[in-house]
Amino acid sequence: MATIAVLGAGKIGEALLSGLLHAGRKPEELLFTERHPERSAELTGRYGIAGVDVSEAAKRADVLIVAVKPQDIEPVLDELAPLVGPGSLVVSLCAGLPTALYERRLPEGTPVVRVMPNTPMLVNEAMSAVSPGRHATPEHIRVVEELLSSVGKVLEVPESQQDAVTALSGSGPAYFFFLVEAMIDAGILLGLPRAVAEQLIVQSAVGAAKMLAESAEHPVILREAVTSPAGTTINAIRELEKHGVRAALLAAIEAARDRSVELGKAHEED
Ligand SMILES: NC(=O)c1ccc[n+]([C@@H]2O[C@H](COP(=O)([O-])OP(=O)(O)OC[C@H]3O[C@@H](n4cnc5c(N)ncnc54)[C@H](OP(=O)(O)O)[C@@H]3O)[C@@H](O)[C@H]2O)c1
Repeated sequence: MATIAVLGAGKIGEALLSGLLHAGRKPEELLFTERHPERSAELTGRYGIAGVDVSEAAKRADVLIVAVKPQDIEPVLDELAPLVGPGSLVVSLCAGLPTALYERRLPEGTPVVRVMPNTPMLVNEAMSAVSPGRHATPEHIRVVEELLSSVGKVLEVPESQQDAVTALSGSGPAYFFFLVEAMIDAGILLGLPRAVAEQLIVQSAVGAAKMLAESAEHPVILREAVTSPAGTTINAIRELEKHGVRAALLAAIEAARDRSVELGKAHEED
């Protein structure tokens, strides 16, 4: 079993560690780095995984997974540069950061795989898109796909599509949470107790997600099946269209894509 080190165990790094444990990895096969000792102690207490420094992580791990905020990447690259090489495997989970940035800053030939995961990794339902850098082989991709498939679904995409993926599935869970939050508020407006509204909407979301995942039908067909002539649903749909919800989603996801591009550009002059 390969040893995996997560550099920067924040929300997504912790979700990955926790997901890998759920999927049957042993704490001894996992490592992480964190810059605050309190956070490190908290994670070790919770999961039994050792917090180490970057040089120990590079020495002991077969796969180094970078999960710091894109804005924090520079010092991590400085630390990694003397420690990695063609025999390492560096996996970046950072939104917007191209493999070319790592390839420029790390020794020639270092394999890099770019991944855009999402937080449902916490419940083994992540959607991760992987793209190889210049020196990553199909075997490197296989290793990363195997690792991520233990915490959800994995798709390989060309790196040119990663900004769109970031906007769609990387940030996607937040859009659903936002929608659910708004629908619960609607229940409150209609006079339902919050707990009742929450239960109604969360289970409806789970059921709708299951239908989408399990049926071969297009979402339009599934929606049409709930939209009877002169019924309640069509009245709601008219309001959604009137308020431009579809256009708002298109614009929102485009804005997220633009931000991902911007995050990558911030490091172009390096
Ligand atoms: N959250 C998501 O939904 C999501 C989805 C897909 C991809 N991602 C990507 O995942 C990455 C992490 O996002 P996140 O939401 O998990 O951020 P986060 O919660 O801020 O986690 C980053 C962690 O890295 C630590 N860190 C920063 N610099 C470090 C260093 N030099 N050495 C060791 N640890 C360091 C941070 O510590 P401090 O708290 O001290 O700064 C923090 O605990 C980002 O690049 C993001 O684009 C996130």
